Amino acid sequence: MKIVRAKDYNDMSRKAANIVSAQMIMKPNCVLGLATGSTPIGTYAQLVEWYRKGDLDFSEVTTVNLDEYKGLSKDDEQSYYYFMNDKLFSKVNINLSRTFLPDGMEPDSDKVCRDYNKIIADVGGVDLQLLGLGHNGHIGFNEPGMAFEAETHCINLTESTMKANQRFFSSMDDVPRQAYTMGIKTIMQAKKILVVVNGADKAAIVKEAFFGAITPKVQASVLQLHNDVTIVADEAALAEVTDLCP
Ligand code: GLP
Repeated sequence: MKIVRAKDYNDMSRKAANIVSAQMIMKPNCVLGLATGSTPIGTYAQLVEWYRKGDLDFSEVTTVNLDEYKGLSKDDEQSYYYFMNDKLFSKVNINLSRTFLPDGMEPDSDKVCRDYNKIIADVGGVDLQLLGLGHNGHIGFNEPGMAFEAETHCINLTESTMKANQRFFSSMDDVPRQAYTMGIKTIMQAKKILVVVNGADKAAIVKEAFFGAITPKVQASVLQLHNDVTIVADEAALAEVTDLCP
């Protein structure tokens, strides 16, 4: 596990985008695992800027996203598809038919999960998986207690995650109660993992997840067992581990 220290959010975003760019340059037809949430927005903005300058080419890239709300369509402003299209897909030369998220509108949850696992297998697995970190240590939507063996599954969101996501919806009643997410097993099968974390409110969970016990109670703690994880975090998020990492 490698920890890259960034000064602030912008520095974190630039450093993370550099790592994604390196992956795209080394393997133009790579499979990127993508994440939503506020943390990676700056990373996507930086990638778009480099694309506009002519430094990056997405034409051969495939993407698979970590998660999607159940019941939200691609046109719903709160869907993760909408987010990805808004922040990245519509701004670069990616082939939209090679961008994948779980299908939020398919009523048969088992089918969504089966299909998504097959898509990930068919594209040859994820080369680089980008991850944010939830306040309770969740990655994707894998909430505390979920078995590490899980592949893509449909989950009931915890109250705390729903509250954290409420800021994006007009009321708590509008926050979806269920979502699809790649499971920990799926995430751990990525060849490389890049975690972005910023802000003082994440300092405690950074310590618990990356320097504490490996336990399903803190889903991100499993990343300690992956052989190629890079965490790019700002000073504020690293505040409680300054003595523990170089
Ligand atoms: C959501 C997403 C996660 C994300 C997390 C943290 O629950 N499903 O993938 O990592 O929120 O979000 P933020 O980056 O906004 O703190």
